[in-house]
Amino acid sequence: MMRGLRLMIFIPSLLILTNLQETSSHGDHPLSRIAIHEATLALTPLAYVEASPSILGLTTGQNSEWVTVEYSTPIPSVDDWIGVFSPANFSASTCPSENPRVYPPLLCSAPIKFQYANYSSPQYKDTGKGSLKLQMINQRSDFSFALFTGGFLNPKLVAVSNKVAFSNPNAPAYPRLAQGKKWDEMTVTWTSGYGISEAEPFVEWGPKGGVPIHSPAGTLTFERSSMCGAPARTVGWHDPGYIHTSFLKELWPNAVYAYKLGHRLFNCTYIWSTEYQFKAPPYPGQDSVQRVVIFGDMGKGEVDGSSEYNDFQPGSLNTTKQLVQDLKNIDIVFHIGDICYANGYLSQWDQFTAQIEPIASSVPYMIASGNHEP
Ligand SMILES: *[C@@H]1O[C@H](CO)[C@@H](O)[C@H](O)[C@H]1NC(C)=O
Ligand SMILES: *[C@@H]1O[C@H](CO)[C@@H](O)[C@H](O)[C@H]1NC(C)=O
Ligand SMILES: *[C@@H]1O[C@H](CO)[C@@H](O)[C@H](O)[C@H]1NC(C)=O
Ligand SMILES: *[C@@H]1O[C@H](CO)[C@@H](O)[C@H](O)[C@H]1NC(C)=O
Ligand SMILES: [Fe+2]
Repeated sequence: MMRGLRLMIFIPSLLILTNLQETSSHGDHPLSRIAIHEATLALTPLAYVEASPSILGLTTGQNSEWVTVEYSTPIPSVDDWIGVFSPANFSASTCPSENPRVYPPLLCSAPIKFQYANYSSPQYKDTGKGSLKLQMINQRSDFSFALFTGGFLNPKLVAVSNKVAFSNPNAPAYPRLAQGKKWDEMTVTWTSGYGISEAEPFVEWGPKGGVPIHSPAGTLTFERSSMCGAPARTVGWHDPGYIHTSFLKELWPNAVYAYKLGHRLFNCTYIWSTEYQFKAPPYPGQDSVQRVVIFGDMGKGEVDGSSEYNDFQPGSLNTTKQLVQDLKNIDIVFHIGDICYANGYLSQWDQFTAQIEPIASSVPYMIASGNHEP
């Protein structure tokens, strides 16, 4: 009897605790708060948005760069916001409609990130002038920056910037390692804009300072039509590019390897990533200490503070920062599910792979699917 009573008291309090945690870290995706289907045009004479530089990543191998966005409007209001769109041409009378009875939206795609216009310009609502610094990563298509009024629920497009693009939007990016089926095998997976009809993907790798060899990589992708429904199939769609995987085999125990991602175009031009390194695992049973990091439910964040509406996953950047600082002392990472909470906004996957790149490119980053990666 006593035991029964104690259990009854115990179980509800446990449930409340887990629910609290679910609502605080697993709420709606910030991008889903924007009623992109309700967007209307309110293009305003004299309003403008300017983004610079317009060509990004001019230094070889650079897939990330800060952009300064400056904007002005004669009729500012406190809930104006800046949305970043990719591809840059997001207007279209040609948005695919989800079903024949639903009118296609004016804007075909949700922004890939956003920020209030007053974020670094507190005087914006009086002067109508503001500026933002945003970190852009290579997502294989160009970008534009748009000023909206009417808040997130009734967005009205006021002005759109010039286009901004990476100098090579197809460049290989975001390598992530995984331990292969055998102890002496490592897989390298990365993203690029090169399909197999344009270039052959491979990894150039070898013992650090030794003679490198080339190993081929496979290429996969998927289409909008293979998504189950909205938003992934509608405003959340973003071309995933091509995902390549190569198998590096017969590794020597404990050896340090260097590798580069490559694409050989059919006119014999080579496109290269920067060089990365990893240490091969020990021989099984070797007397050694292996340091393993295990976590789940991390999510992603933006270093520029954007898309942080409602503090969706405030701890995510702290987690990656801590792992990067401690990388020397880590042999393998297990991210056991609920990886980036993209929730049907596909642009989030590039942003996540970019966030973990410093970790995943140098130690095996093993993932499992959670309930947010159906
Ligand atoms: C900035 O905009 C947000 C959202 O509308 C608002 O809550 C906040 O008070 C604004 N801050 C200033 C300094 O105007
Ligand atoms: C933007 O896309 C629309 C519809 O696909 C097209 O008609 C228009 O020409 C494009 N504009 C630019 C500047 O590329
Ligand atoms: C090969 O093709 C690429 C992409 O089309 C081009 O940028 C490059 O200049 C070409 N190289 C040569 C040697 O023709
Ligand atoms: C996480 O990082 C932010 C920004 O650097 C910092 O303000 C905050 O205190 C950190 N939180 C924890 C729990 O370390
Ligand atoms: Fe979760």
